[in-house]
Formats: sequence, C-alpha cells, structure tokens
Amino acid sequence: EKGAYPFYMLKEIDEQPAVMRRLLSEYVENEETVKIDDHILNAMKAADRLYIVAAGTSYHAGLVGKELFESLANVPTEVHVASEFGYHMPLLSEKPFFIFLSQSGETADSRQVLVKVNEMMYPSLTITNSANSTLSREATYTLLLHAGPEIAVASTKAYTAQIAVEALLAKALGTVTGQVKAIDYDVYHELTAVANAMQAMVDEKESINDLAKEFLSETRNAFYIGRGIDYDVSIEAALKLKEVSYVQTEGFASGELKHGTIALIEKGTPVVAIITDAPTASHTRGNVQEVLARGANTITISMESLANEGDQIVLPDVSDLLTPLVSIVPAQLLAYYTSLNRGYDVDKPRNLAKSVTVE
Ligand code: M6R
Repeated sequence: EKGAYPFYMLKEIDEQPAVMRRLLSEYVENEETVKIDDHILNAMKAADRLYIVAAGTSYHAGLVGKELFESLANVPTEVHVASEFGYHMPLLSEKPFFIFLSQSGETADSRQVLVKVNEMMYPSLTITNSANSTLSREATYTLLLHAGPEIAVASTKAYTAQIAVEALLAKALGTVTGQVKAIDYDVYHELTAVANAMQAMVDEKESINDLAKEFLSETRNAFYIGRGIDYDVSIEAALKLKEVSYVQTEGFASGELKHGTIALIEKGTPVVAIITDAPTASHTRGNVQEVLARGANTITISMESLANEGDQIVLPDVSDLLTPLVSIVPAQLLAYYTSLNRGYDVDKPRNLAKSVTVE
C-alpha cells in the first residue's frame, strides 16, 4: 500500500535505505561473511567470463555490476542488452556463466536469451525480485533482491538492490577465489554507510524539488554526464527522467560531448553532471565549464571529498565502487518531481508497462 504517499515511485525511492539494510541481514552473517550458496560460487568459480544479460534499468545495474565483478572478483565481465544478445550473440568464451538481472523475472527479451543458454547447457543465475518468476524457475540458480514489491513502472529500489546484490556476490566470489581486494573489502560496513548516505539524500527532497522546478519544469531536453561509474549512472538517470517526465534526456560519457553532441547545448539546456569518480573528476569539471560557456544550466551532483563550492547536490562519501547507489537517488527524485510538477501520472507513464512480456 502506498499509504500517505501520493505515488508509489516516491515510496519506493524512500524505501531504499531499508532495502540495503534488509539485504545485509539476508546475505551477511556476523557483519562479515557473505552467505551465498556454494553451488553458485563453485559454478561461477569455474567460469572464465561472466555475461550479464538484462533490459532497461536492470541492464544499467549490470553496467555497475561489471565494475564490481572485475574489480573485486577479478573476472572479466560483459554486459549485454537482452534484445540484442539473443539474435546477435557475440563469440563466447570457453566457460561462460550467465547472470540474468530482472526485477520482474518475466521480461520476454531476457527469457529468449535464457532459453538459448539452456539449450547450450551453460550455467546461469537469475537475480530477481520475484521468487516464482519464469526467469528464476528456468535458470540454474536464483538469488533474490528482497526489495519488496515494486509497483511504479519506473524502477528505483530494484536498481539499487541489484547493485547491492552484485556487490555482495562479487565480494563472496572474490573471497573464495582468493582475491586480496575482495577479502579486504568490508562490504557490511560499506553498504551500511551507503544506507545512511541514501537516507541523507531522501531527506533532501525539498531542495531537490526546488532544483527540478528551476531547471526542468519547462525544458524539452536535458543531459546527464559523467565518466566511468558516473557514466553508468548517467544513463540510468536519463532513462528515469525521460520515462516519467517525457523530457528527451541523454546520458553521456562527458568526454564524448565535444565529439558532436555539444552542438545541442544552447542557452538554458539543463546538464546534470555526476562527479564521484576521483580519477576523472577534474576532467568532468572541465566538461561542465565547456557547456556553461555555451549557456547550459548546470546541476552538479558530487561526492563530498570531490565537491566544489556551488555544487547543488553533495553526497556523503562512500566506497568508490558503490557511489551509484547514492548518486542515483537525487536523479530519481529529480525525475519524480519533474513528472509530478508537470502533472503526469508518475506511476503509470504513457506507452509503458511494468513488465514487458512480449519481445
Ligand atoms: O523486470 P525487469 O527488470 O526485467 O524489467 C526490465 C525493464 O523493462 C525495466 O527496467 C524498465 O526499463 C523500467 N521501466 C525502467 O524504469
């Protein structure tokens, strides 16, 4: 039930810190050991490459998953859009392991890939919010998101739950394969810090609504820019805004702007920069200057240790691999308030269904 909330989307954004804590209690023992079925870890251990297959927001969670699996578990990882993968399958490695990310577990595009993967007899894992879903029944293994029902068409808490489960799984896998980085990674405390930082962001609702009113209430288009993990979040942030507010929004690798797309920047174009990636922060700052010089209205979402005066949204510092869990929250709220302020049905945007069960 949405109770006092006008829309499920806002309720589900608000629930995210609690979902993080629930995942810790479901998956972590004694604040330390990640509990994942040995069968899953053994099958993953035997693989030479992970293939993450998903659609929409779940695909975007997969992009962050690649960073986690490669960095903590040291295993090469590819991420693919399900509707492309099934019909244009890349050359596979010798021992692939497939991970299907799907909130609903019913997405037809993902299922058609799983059917082929099963025919080829490769092992697979579905990470889903729905225990009895088609994808969880048909995959070799399943892990649950424990996010509670997600009703709004725009996915929010499933995205962050997917990233958190990927982090837990990467920690567990890297630990059993002896990766020092994974062994040393204190995932319990890092995710606890994330839950607190998320709470700080959801408590900023009013000021984020003010930004939405000032920058996004009239515009026809907008950009999110970032590099590395912030680029991954930019694409998801753009999808959120476009699907609920109908503002044409692009998520962009900020260094690519000058190779063409900067031609679209004119006076008043909103550009939201996400800056949590320390090695590239100064480069993205440079790109913000370039769009400012062309009249853009910029909003900067930065992490505290990288913040500059004038940044409108500052996130508490969290582990560099987990910043998407926090930086996405203000972007979800910007999308929510833009839709609300324009008078749309936030939970049921036009032309969209909660789960896409046709190819
Ligand atoms: O249930 P799934 O995670 O498989 O759904 C995938 C996409 O259809 C879904 O994420 C969609 O992109 C959402 N509307 C995004 O907010």
